[in-house]
Amino acid sequence: MPTESEPYREMGVLKTKTNKEKIMSKYRILVLNGPNLGFLGRRQPEIYGNKGMDALPGLLEELMGESAREVELLFFQANGEGELIDRLESAYKDGVHGVAFNAGAYTHTSLALADCLAWIKIPCVEVHLSNVWARSEPLRHKSLIAPSCVGVVSGFGMDSYALAVQALYRHLEQNQKK
Ligand code: DQA
Repeated sequence: MPTESEPYREMGVLKTKTNKEKIMSKYRILVLNGPNLGFLGRRQPEIYGNKGMDALPGLLEELMGESAREVELLFFQANGEGELIDRLESAYKDGVHGVAFNAGAYTHTSLALADCLAWIKIPCVEVHLSNVWARSEPLRHKSLIAPSCVGVVSGFGMDSYALAVQALYRHLEQNQKK
């Protein structure tokens, strides 16, 4: 768990309150965070808000109610591009069902991450706490990873992650029915 002074890297599996009693979840979703996202809640709260990643299970339950129990969340944060690629590759090997991915600044620059998402083909939602298109730096208006994602959620603080997980859940449900 993240503390006041330590960044979180890997929180392991964090079950939502409702699915604590249930051992089997239907979907495993990786919440993946890139550079400078280890101190969420403390980094520039005027831009990124004051909630930490530990708020996510509660937000997800508010949004999804009972269906939240069908989702198991896996968490990982790294500052390096290679570590993020390694984690995506292991998600591929482990058959993870979806990825909610805030790639931070790599969103705008990383062809390597875009290449990885393009071949592993795990349904991925690009996530941003801030509304990147409303920000003043033109480079933030561009995403190299978006073409390999099913969608983008940007601008809702920590709710962006919960909305992304909910969207992935609905996407997975709909595609399973086909
Ligand atoms: C961010 C937006 C990026 O432009 C920035 O580099 C970040 C955070 C966001 O969540 O709003 O590190 O991805």
